[in-house]
Amino acid sequence: MSAEIDWAALRSAAIEAMETAYAPYSNFPVGVAALVDDGRIVTGCNVENASYGVGLCAECGLVSELARTGGGKLIAFDCVDGKENTLMPCGRCRQLLYEFSAPGMLLNTVSGIKTIDEVLPDAFGPRNLEEYRG
Ligand code: THU
Repeated sequence: MSAEIDWAALRSAAIEAMETAYAPYSNFPVGVAALVDDGRIVTGCNVENASYGVGLCAECGLVSELARTGGGKLIAFDCVDGKENTLMPCGRCRQLLYEFSAPGMLLNTVSGIKTIDEVLPDAFGPRNLEEYRG
């Protein structure tokens, strides 16, 4: 599956998104890009706020764009910092991504290509709610 993914295109899209970040408080711009199961690429950047705690991670923008542009599931994901280095999504953002992950979704991480299940083991997700409701 990884062979079919144009990781270079995802990296370019993540860098382009990072360049639009609004991060005047942390000075830590972040850009993300993901391949959707219909072939489109969705992106996001972090958007901070004077009320620091309400700042949005780049992944928030990405999942919002995913929904707004037609939904679907994420197949592959890349994340960069302001130096264009690979960045790990924070824990909360792994959960955001998990919600929309295709089975076996791949992430380009600081320790190589990993699946969503490797970066968020035993995840809580929609299935838990379905099982509970019966
Ligand atoms: N940040 C993201 O946008 N995504 C992550 O996964 C890690 C952290 C942002 C949040 C904040 O604007 C800045 O990086 C510094 O924490």
